[in-house]
Amino acid sequence: MPTQIWTVKKLLLWTTGYFTQHGIPNPRLDAEVLLSHLLEKSRLQLYLDFDMPIFQEHLTPFREFIKKRIARTPVSYLTNRKEFMSLDFYVDERVLIPRPETEQLVETALTAGSEVSLEGASTLRALDLGTGSGVIAISLAVQRPESDIIATDISEEALAVAQKNAETHNCTEHITFLKGDLFEPVTARHFDWILCNPPYIKSAERDTLSADVRDREPEIALFAGDEGLAVIRRLIAEAPDYLVPNGKLIFEIGDTQAAEVCSLLEAQPAYRTYELLKDYAQKERIVLASI
Ligand SMILES: C[S@@+](CC[C@H](N)C(=O)[O-])C[C@H]1O[C@@H](n2cnc3c(N)ncnc32)[C@H](O)[C@@H]1O
Repeated sequence: MPTQIWTVKKLLLWTTGYFTQHGIPNPRLDAEVLLSHLLEKSRLQLYLDFDMPIFQEHLTPFREFIKKRIARTPVSYLTNRKEFMSLDFYVDERVLIPRPETEQLVETALTAGSEVSLEGASTLRALDLGTGSGVIAISLAVQRPESDIIATDISEEALAVAQKNAETHNCTEHITFLKGDLFEPVTARHFDWILCNPPYIKSAERDTLSADVRDREPEIALFAGDEGLAVIRRLIAEAPDYLVPNGKLIFEIGDTQAAEVCSLLEAQPAYRTYELLKDYAQKERIVLASI
């Protein structure tokens, strides 16, 4: 970054050009998000303060952000923030960065929830498998404070992030975090909902992923064997044992997996009905199955 008197406007212009030269996909947006984070201003405020000078105390950390972004560290790992269901979550390299498709999973659960029979119980009992940063469990606890949620993950490091987010959103009383392989740490068998955003990328697709994802996000959160179905197969097979009658299994799949997932559901007689819901890009990404 050349030596000169920098203003918000000049810095954004220069950084956008530099990110563009280095093939960063959303150069202007990334520059704005990083600068607004450092200056603790909204992106709109940056535009209102276009001519504000930027001094060394902010230039030094901004330079570090630029270096790391060029080295493909995702913006959310630099700012340690990601918005999900209008809530602010802490994220770092220990967890997958939550994706917008997963908001649809939570919205599907909240809509389907009005039909769930609580069998006389007033508490909604939910299980979130592979909770990562805790976004699914925590959004649910915030939206449905009467919930009693178990959230699991095979990664102890991910659970530490989820716990931190649960504390931030004041819902530790409603969520129990357990470490283990899928259903292994779960003893209760009375869930109204089982929710899961599993790893579902095929090992062979590794080279098709952007470096931001492939080299920075946790492997265990992304890959699921040769067909990408290693976790989904077990989820479909085991979930009926943990659901109450009329309980729902709601999970996310990859955008090419719909046909295989339908075959797996049809081969499992415990499911009475299922449907596949499309994401905003019209791809079938969310499965809602009832027993
Ligand atoms: C795709 S990420 C989803 C994280 C979070 N639920 C979200 O939607 O952002 C999958 C998560 O499942 C966890 N995971 C992978 N295999 C698992 C297994 N066999 N048992 C439990 N958790 C697993 C990973 O550690 C990761 O946190």
